[in-house]
Amino acid sequence: MSTPANTGAFEGHKKLERNVTLLAALTLGVVAIGGIVEIAPLFWIDNTIEKVEGMRPYTPLEQAGRDIYIREGCYVCHSQMIRPFRDEVERYGHYSLAAESMYDHPFQWGSKRTGPDLARVGGRYSDAWHVQHLKAPREVVPESIMPGYSFLAETKLEVADPAANLTALRHVGVPYSDKDIAAAKADLEAQANPEADAGDLATRYPKAQIRDFDGDPSRVTEMDALVAYLQMLGTLVDVNSAAAQEQLTKGDKGR
Ligand code: HEC
Repeated sequence: MSTPANTGAFEGHKKLERNVTLLAALTLGVVAIGGIVEIAPLFWIDNTIEKVEGMRPYTPLEQAGRDIYIREGCYVCHSQMIRPFRDEVERYGHYSLAAESMYDHPFQWGSKRTGPDLARVGGRYSDAWHVQHLKAPREVVPESIMPGYSFLAETKLEVADPAANLTALRHVGVPYSDKDIAAAKADLEAQANPEADAGDLATRYPKAQIRDFDGDPSRVTEMDALVAYLQMLGTLVDVNSAAAQEQLTKGDKGR
């Protein structure tokens, strides 16, 4: 029942509800305000992803491995996205941070887990384990249903133009320097070849692992690139460091 004080408002609303045009116009106005509040800030902030220490663009070899990962459809069975649920965190490690996939074009989050999540697989197994597992999964994990990729170890790594790949990625926001692009071809060869001079590769790409990955130091194969990529996954950001934790709590508060 309306009291005399709000009868006016009630009458006003009654009028509003019966005037379709006015109601539509005002509804649109209210929804637009909500939209502007959500969208407008995006024009003033540089980045929607909080920077996390340690995240860097992938080396040309890791990038080549990533291209093989996509070419072979590994994402069809593997995700790279640990959700913040207890069962996932206990199995795979710290949940994925947005910044950890900021240089992924396209993202490899995936939506299907026939096999385990690979976001933090780097360093979990030896190179030799990965090579053996990729060649013949059931020799290492008898119940595995993963297909074998032994041809990768016999295929010489051929990247038509590593510099062009990095340039293309730079266009979509991956901060490769001019030096990274100029050195792309040399970096690609040097990271998996213990004989080659890697130059300042490790300075430009901190935590880059420089070694022969496939057990055949005489040449650089697709297996080298893929294992280099897998061994890097999840190792760049020290998620348990104080700095990362601080950024996480800040992020939580903003949520
Ligand atoms: C048909 C689905 C399927 C495809 C395609 C597939 N995998 Fe797997 N993968 C699995 C399954 C199932 C397992 C778990 C059993 C095992 O370890 O072999 C697994 C396990 C793994 C593991 C071990 C993960 C861990 O934490 O123990 C790695 C690494 C891996 N796969 C990499 C790859 C890569 C790289 C490719 C692409 C070249 C690939 N997989 C393609 C199904 C697949």
